[in-house]
Amino acid sequence: MHIALVSLFPEMFEAVTDHGVTGRAVKQGLVTISHSNPRDFTTDKHRTVDDRPYGGGPGMLMKIDPLQQAIAAAREAAGVDARVIYLSPQGKRLDHGKSVALSQEQALILVAGRYEGVDERLIEAEVDEEISIGDYVLSGGELAAMVVIDSVTRHLPGVLGHELSAQEDSYADGLLDCPHYTRPEEYQGKPVPEVLLSGNHEWIRRWRLKQALGRTYERRPDLLEGRANTAEEDELLAE
Ligand code: ADE
Repeated sequence: MHIALVSLFPEMFEAVTDHGVTGRAVKQGLVTISHSNPRDFTTDKHRTVDDRPYGGGPGMLMKIDPLQQAIAAAREAAGVDARVIYLSPQGKRLDHGKSVALSQEQALILVAGRYEGVDERLIEAEVDEEISIGDYVLSGGELAAMVVIDSVTRHLPGVLGHELSAQEDSYADGLLDCPHYTRPEEYQGKPVPEVLLSGNHEWIRRWRLKQALGRTYERRPDLLEGRANTAEEDELLAE
């Protein structure tokens, strides 16, 4: 997959391109990254990338021309079929299903805004989809774009390798993850649940599923709305 980034702060993306699972995916060539910086498309002495909003009010918007040209450059790098995503708190909220769907795309263009946002006509002309990562306001779209990169990259073939596969990730079955334990066998007076020491993989799998169900019910009942339990889940809940 190619991911073309449109941002005034390309260095920020080193957090995902140079580290961890996503960094390895880049190193292995499973994901290729390109950058277009609107500042590189300015023509004035001060390299201006912001502009005043019509109607007044506090704050500035992204200046149209440099941003539009940076998106055009991103299209050159990513190909004509690339899906253009603008990160903004006004977008539809990112979830597991959306990350999986985006991972099927050949190429993504992620547009990170700064200031108070982007001219609505530019969004209408250039953007396929507006995505939010949650109901709070960030100082720019870069962190949100990195969240998209990380969550999407995990679903690309070969990225998770020997580690747990994305299918085993929390949320893949619509549930929160079960609790995990490592050494020592007793920590601060608390033992590891006995079943995890049993060596019986079937018991362990069922215990984990039951824990995941219980946690989801307690912490995120909204996730269970409209989700049908499997026969096994019903059985576990009746125990
Ligand atoms: N830009 C600023 N806040 C954001 C959010 N919550 N999600 C996506 N992009 C953003």
